[in-house]
Amino acid sequence: MSPARRAAPALLLSCLQALYAPACRPGAAGELDAFTPWQPAESPAPAPAESPAPAPAAVRSVSRGDSLGVPPSPPSVSCDFVTAGSFDGKPVAPALAAMNGGRIVNIIPSRKSGRTVKVTLLLEPAWRVFFKPRHRVHLFTRPQGEVGAFRLNRMLGMNHVPPAVVRILDGSVIHSAFKRHAPPERLEQLEREVLSESSDEMTGALLLWADDGWVFEPTGALLGKLARPEARLTPREQALVWDLTWMFILDHLTNNYDRFTGGNILRRKDGRLLFIDNGAAFGPEQDWKAERRRGRLKYLARHSPVVTLALRRLEARVMAACAGDVLTARDIDGVLARRDELVAHFDRLARDCPEKCRLTLELEAP
Ligand SMILES: Nc1ncnc2c1ncn2[C@@H]1O[C@H](COP(=O)(O)OP(=O)(O)OP(=O)(O)O)[C@@H](O)[C@H]1O
Ligand SMILES: [Mg+2]
Repeated sequence: MSPARRAAPALLLSCLQALYAPACRPGAAGELDAFTPWQPAESPAPAPAESPAPAPAAVRSVSRGDSLGVPPSPPSVSCDFVTAGSFDGKPVAPALAAMNGGRIVNIIPSRKSGRTVKVTLLLEPAWRVFFKPRHRVHLFTRPQGEVGAFRLNRMLGMNHVPPAVVRILDGSVIHSAFKRHAPPERLEQLEREVLSESSDEMTGALLLWADDGWVFEPTGALLGKLARPEARLTPREQALVWDLTWMFILDHLTNNYDRFTGGNILRRKDGRLLFIDNGAAFGPEQDWKAERRRGRLKYLARHSPVVTLALRRLEARVMAACAGDVLTARDIDGVLARRDELVAHFDRLARDCPEKCRLTLELEAP
């Protein structure tokens, strides 16, 4: 059997092993509601061309308790798994550093269709990123959703979501680029829905661009096979089923209902899947979202100990330490409650259908 099969994904293991190193410590629970853009622990962050980001919440230090009766702080947590390794062949740590503070050398209004305005940026020295600004309308999509989904994907040992940060850009610079290069209706949309009269600040999510990815929509036949563990799968389908299993897990945890509106899954040349457009993640709970989420459990018809272990290892304090700048305490509670739904689901499956419902192929994170 090839080492990639039946092997716990490498990123998952490095993530789980790294959790107790001292690079990053949890913030106090009361601080979770404050929203501050995050920066990697030791990024060299070049001087930003626009407003500097507030101090990183995720790397704040917390002193230990002492004999004066101060409760000891929780064991320290490392968030190294956020910056480890590469995505789409690009090293993640320098990509995040550039995304957090790198100088912008080119601004290209996106011609992609969709409900919101988007911008392709080139950052020094040669990073191509996608900027999705926060809109005053279309509140279903938020920068924190993109960043929270990226961090949670890494916490789980996945590597399917583009690295993302929240960044505040100079809106007047983006506006000028739109005046010169954007179609009139996009310029008008930017002015109406994004720019503000009172401030030049334009907050949004920056996402690392995946060069190796083409839009992929799972067919009804493939989804049907996903829901039927007895269905025979070709080797190609086995790999797709593994990646789609992680996709449905991520969407369940983040409460993201917006996966199948078109263009939100990419497929690489090697067949692996990337999950983009996570802006709808972590919004407020609604009955219709819960119903849709539970309805999609039918696509999680196969289990694996690797998957269940990753879910069980999610911890509030790690999420608070490593994503507390973009997720509120309520968001984190929501993730854990939905994690419990998933664990109960997979435990049932493993008990009632131990062999026939086992995932036949387990792959390392892409
Ligand atoms: N990080 C990325 N790497 C490569 N391609 C991307 C990336 N992000 C987005 N794209 C491309 O841009 C398209 C639009 O992006 P996205 O789905 O995030 O926004 P959207 O659906 O248009 O947003 P909305 O409907 O909320 O306006 C995607 O379908 C995909 O083709
Ligand atoms: Mg989309």
